[in-house]
This record gives sequence, C-alpha cells and structure tokens, in this order.
Amino acid sequence: MSKKVHIKTYGCQMNVYDSKRMADVLKPHGYELSDDAENADLVILNTCHIREKAAEKVYSEIGRLRATKDEKAADGKNMFIAVAGCVAQAEGPEMMRRAPAIDMVLGPQTYHRLPDMLKAAEEQRTGGRRSARVLDTDFPVDTKFDHLPDDSTFDGPAAFLTVQEGCDKFCTFCVVPYTRGAEYSRPVADIVAEAKRLVAKGVVEITLLGQNVNAYHGDDGQGGTASLGELIAELDKIEGLGRIRYTTSHPRDMDDELIFAHRDVASCMPYLHLPVQSGSDRILDAMNRKHTREDYFAIIDRLRAANPDLALSSDFIVGFPGETDEDFEATLDLVRRVKYAQAYSFKYSPRPGTPAAILEEQVPEDVKSERLARLQDLLNEQQLAFNEASVGKEMDILLEREGKYPGQLLGRSPYLQAVHVDVSSADNALDAGADKPYSEYMGRLVRVKIVESGPNSLKGELVSTLS
Ligand code: SAH
Ligand code: SF4
Ligand code: F3S
Repeated sequence: MSKKVHIKTYGCQMNVYDSKRMADVLKPHGYELSDDAENADLVILNTCHIREKAAEKVYSEIGRLRATKDEKAADGKNMFIAVAGCVAQAEGPEMMRRAPAIDMVLGPQTYHRLPDMLKAAEEQRTGGRRSARVLDTDFPVDTKFDHLPDDSTFDGPAAFLTVQEGCDKFCTFCVVPYTRGAEYSRPVADIVAEAKRLVAKGVVEITLLGQNVNAYHGDDGQGGTASLGELIAELDKIEGLGRIRYTTSHPRDMDDELIFAHRDVASCMPYLHLPVQSGSDRILDAMNRKHTREDYFAIIDRLRAANPDLALSSDFIVGFPGETDEDFEATLDLVRRVKYAQAYSFKYSPRPGTPAAILEEQVPEDVKSERLARLQDLLNEQQLAFNEASVGKEMDILLEREGKYPGQLLGRSPYLQAVHVDVSSADNALDAGADKPYSEYMGRLVRVKIVESGPNSLKGELVSTLS
C-alpha cells in the first residue's frame, strides 16, 4: 500500500533540490509525495540555519505537528516526524532533547540513507514507543550522489541541479561550512547525465547549484578538473536545454572562463547573483571575505565589458559587528555604483559557533533595522527602474506555471524577472495558435513583448511561439 510523505522546505535552493531528491529516494519504498501534512505517514522538515528566525520557525512547526501526531496516535495511526537539513546538522542531539516528538534527525549529506533510518524508526516504534530516536548527521566519506536514484519526477520546466556542495571559505558570520561540510564537486559526467535525464523529461532550464558554485572543479573524466565555465560549455551542447543559470557565486572565484561564458555561450543566461555582503573594506576584512570593494568593482567591470546586457543581483548583511555609519554609507555607495536588477538584504544574525558571534561591538537592533530599511529602499528603487526599462522590449520567456487568472501563465525573463503572459488573448500577434488551449504553452519558451512593469513582476504579450 502506498504511503504519503509530506516535505516542508526552508532555506536556499540547495534545500529545494535536496527535498526533491529525498522524495526520489523514498519513491521506490512506496512513498508518494503529498501536499497534506495532516494525512502524511511521514513528515520531513528540511531546515535552514542561516539566520535565527529560520531555526525558530522549525520549532514552532514541530509543535504543530506534535498535536497532529498525538491525535493520530489516539486513533491508532502512525506518523513519523523527521528533521533534515542544516538545523538538523547543527543541533541534532539538542533538537531531539528539546522536541521529543521528533523520530529522526538527518543531515544534508546523509539523506540517501533515509530508507534505512525509516526501518530503524519503524522497529523502535513497534516496540511501543511514541517516538523513535534515530540520528544520522555524519559527513560520509562516500558522497550521497553515488547513492541517489537516477529517476526523478518532473515538476516543471525549470529545474535545480546541485553540482557543488559545502564551503571552505569560513566567512566569520556564516554557518554553511559547519552544516554542509567541506567543498566537494561532482564529476562532469554525472552532472551531464543528470542534466540529460531532466531535459528528456521536459526540462528547458537548469540552475546549477552550489554554496560556492563557481569554485566548482569537478573531475573531467580525462585526468583533470573542469571549471564551472567549462561545465557550462559542456552542458550547452545538450539539445533541448535552452537556459543555464548558476548560483551562488563568490567574487573570488569569478574567473575569465566563467565571465566569457556570459559572452560566448548562448544558453548561459544574462543574470548573475554575486553576493558582496558589504561595501566597506574594513567590514569585508572582518567578515573574512578575502576581497575588497575595488576587487568587486573590477569584476563587475570585466563582466559588463564581456556582456553589457548582464543583470546583477547580490546579498547584503547590515549591522555586522563593528559596522559604523561610515561603513554602511560605503555599502550604499557601492549599490549606487553597481546598480542591481534585484538583491537580498539581511540584518546580521549572530550564529552560535561562528567567530563573529562573539565579537564585541554588536550593533543594536534598532540601528540594524534602520540601516536595512534604507538599503532596501535603494535596492527597491533600482529594481523598479530595472523593471521599467524592460517595458517595450521583446524577450524570451519560459512559461513555468499557471497565473492567477484563466489563460494567464507565469514565466521568467532571461533576467529572472517574473512575467505574467496572457496566452488566451486574441489581441496578441499569435497567428496560428491563438485558439489553442493555453496548456500548449506551459513549459515553452515564447517570444513576448513587455507591456507593463511593477516592483516585483512584469506583464507581457505573446508575439509568437518559438518553433
Ligand atoms: N555562499 C554564498 C552565500 C550563502 S548564505 C556567498 O558566499 O555569498 C546566503 C546569504 O545569507 C549570504 O550571502 C548572506 O548575505 C546571508 N547570511 C549568511 N549568514 C548570515 C548571518 N549570520 N546573518 C545574516 N545574514 C547572513
Ligand atoms: Fe558562507 Fe562565506 Fe561560504 Fe558563502 S562563502 S557559504 S557566505 S562561508
Ligand atoms: Fe540555509 Fe543550509 Fe541553505 S543554512 S541557506 S539551507 S545551506
């Protein structure tokens, strides 16, 4: 009899990829994915530890699940609660003590062992216990990628593919090197094979993932290693793969091969997320970022010289310990000079076990809030301007899902903007297909003229279908 697994995902795209792979691992063992936590036999919380609030959300979710689990137990039904991801890795034993409703704790590098863990949990529960106590947060020597099933379900034309894991950079604010472990790159052949399987299922766009994706240096099968630029050139050869993106990059690893991929490789999208964190050299140094603001400007100049059409994004942290008004002004100045298409910004959150958490001169909360608001005003202004400049332009949009209204689909521009396209409208310049049901367009790259812009999305009209 088939069982149901519900997976709730927090955090970055790597967790989104991992959640999908956990579902793939469980499928041959009779587990079907379900949107409904209440009726699931197994609930997995795939957690994120990057900022304080992220972990707190997990504990409140476990509280809610405990009530469901107890109700089901009263009816003689079993429900397992598993906590996976970065909070599990960082605080596994403590989580089990704090939340006795948890049956299993597993790390980002051990989820291929889920079926074994489930078996152990089931055995413990048949012994009459209300919860099992299974914990596996190893960093195994053999990588999970060698144990994951080939088969994976299609869930849209834009897919994630993890090519690199972990981080050796140890920025002083960041938990990732502790939760994800040391840097590791998958071999080129494995990645190409996975990409081909995705494309065969209908995937048109692949985002290559890694905490340090541009530090990628995977086995090239010829006794050497390939850089990310080389990997992208290799993937570009796959027929049917229209778009390649990658995230997240570190300024230090932005080499010429990768920069020129934005000029020379047709499927390499004109969008780059390149976190800088701060515009102040003093703070960059205290963060152990190993680059200066001038280094960052020089990289942006090289990128824009290679491809003037490139849209840029970044991450910022405000209120890092010791950040003065002057340091913060330097960040605003950097933003004004670079001009971003969009960006993410956060208040510094002290993470236990990281060097910055014990620095003196922690910035007061109200100062952090005020700086964040000012930075976000500027970034929003830039995003709005970038979106406004798209109006009147024609671009290819990958239609990914249904929009709010009948006949409307939601897609992404090459620059990752969300675009609403009405495919049922008879007014657009679609000659042959105007009366086709719009499902024909789902998952397709179409030519669209942008007619309206807002802060977070654009509206476009179909010009014609591509092929
Ligand atoms: N590897 C990427 C970032 C991964 S974490 C890089 O090197 O840029 C994603 C983002 O979360 C970071 O870029 C940073 O802006 C933010 N972040 C990480 N730790 C944080 C902390 N302790 N407080 C606030 N924001 C943090
Ligand atoms: Fe964290 Fe720095 Fe590594 Fe990015 S490069 S994952 S911010 S330690
Ligand atoms: Fe969060 Fe772990 Fe990703 S801490 S941001 S889920 S690598």
